[in-house]
Amino acid sequence: MQLNVVILAAGQGTRMRSKLPKVLHPLAGKPMLQWVLDAAYNLQPAAIEVVYGHGGETVCETIPGKNISWVLQTEQLGTGHAVQQAMQHVAPEQQLLVLYGDTPLINPQTLQQLVSTTPAGEVGIITADFSDPFGLGRIVRDSNHGIIGIVEQKDATVEQQTITEINTGIMLLPARKLQHWLSQLQTNNAQGELYLTDVIAMAVADGVPIHSIQPKNNSEVSGVNTRVQLSQLERAYQSIQAEAFMAEGVTIMDPARFDVRGELTCGEDVTIDINVIIEGKVSIGAGCKIGANVILKNVSLAANTEILPNCILEQSTLGENCLIGPFARLRPGTELANNVKVGNYVETKKARVGEGSKIPHLSYIGDAVIGKSVNIGAGVITANYDGVNKHKTIIGDHVFVGCDTQLIAPVNIGDNAFIGCGSSISKNAPAGKLTIARARQTTLASWQPPKKS
Ligand code: UD1
Ligand code: CA
Repeated sequence: MQLNVVILAAGQGTRMRSKLPKVLHPLAGKPMLQWVLDAAYNLQPAAIEVVYGHGGETVCETIPGKNISWVLQTEQLGTGHAVQQAMQHVAPEQQLLVLYGDTPLINPQTLQQLVSTTPAGEVGIITADFSDPFGLGRIVRDSNHGIIGIVEQKDATVEQQTITEINTGIMLLPARKLQHWLSQLQTNNAQGELYLTDVIAMAVADGVPIHSIQPKNNSEVSGVNTRVQLSQLERAYQSIQAEAFMAEGVTIMDPARFDVRGELTCGEDVTIDINVIIEGKVSIGAGCKIGANVILKNVSLAANTEILPNCILEQSTLGENCLIGPFARLRPGTELANNVKVGNYVETKKARVGEGSKIPHLSYIGDAVIGKSVNIGAGVITANYDGVNKHKTIIGDHVFVGCDTQLIAPVNIGDNAFIGCGSSISKNAPAGKLTIARARQTTLASWQPPKKS
């Protein structure tokens, strides 16, 4: 059986009150529609259609369209109408899986289960039990517990409104029969729309078996209409992530203040304090400690490294046993070997630092290569930019750079060199020697303090 996926994403999303189309609002750092597409790709379908609405061109422009047919629905006349627009891309022998662009957390495993429990030519629906089903379509069953139809909130009788089993909207339908059912849809309902849900009663009338499954977690099938719902779904997602990491041996000081907006891998006995934000691809080695208010974006930390509070690290690779911060900023291209210390108010960029070296306070180290066991004094900066080009600073092993020194690049400091405090080093400094580049101290014997005139 061939699978085809249609994602309905033409709704206006007016309740978001946003210039950004609803399905582009991010959940855990990724647009909602991208979540749904990723779930669809996971099933390796023969084709994917995304139905988008008038003015939704930014959706096609923003989402990289790997094997997607974009289908414009100029007027939102209902979910049945939306599917009709996509049918030109669906072959009669295919099973069509309907997903919603505003239901981002659907788990590919649940979709896989729907596909495997629904034989070709039959119908499968994902339903869920909601304690507050208000506003959603209800699943109507007969006395044998067989599904006989779906009724929308606005069309439901008082009795039907007490049903807590809801239609998630996600269904798998045989395309040939669906084509026929869609052609019979009517707008004689409370909203005057073409309801996709009406095809269920038609399938029953045609003797087509209806199968249903339920998701593990209701957050998988919760749709987003408002920013409040989006934030609730974000917290639901983050709390599932936090619990999974804790189960794998990570200590999370407060799961309610833990945010993974990307992919995180953690070794054993990692401790993560409050308000840590993980973005992009991050890997944290065993025994690492991450302090409060730290942002890690595309970073890799080897074992037993500690990040003290209030640091921002981006596109950086750190060895074992490093100690960073508090208040350090490691910018892209920072590569630290083992046992490196980068302390308070230090900024690094494109900096390779050798084993055991220390940059403890108030420094800017950019476009630099620093050897092993180097000590960089407080306030040392690399003057790497001449206003047009960036230049390199190269420092050998066992170098001591005195406080408040400017290293005016391009410049090379030899192994075991010692640079006196307050130097402006614009020429290479030889290995094993003391180099000082500052005015000599003088005291003027004839000086008198100024007097008030
Ligand atoms: C729909 C279902 C309801 C279900 C609920 C789950 C119908 C008639 N009702 O109701 O049973 O419980 O979803 O959230 O199907 N869309 C389009 N074009 C349209 C209309 C909608 O693309 O013309 C898209 C929306 O962008 C959205 C999805 O379809 O992604 C659902 O539309 P929405 O208006 O939210 O449907 P509901 O009335 O909530
Ligand atoms: Ca909805």
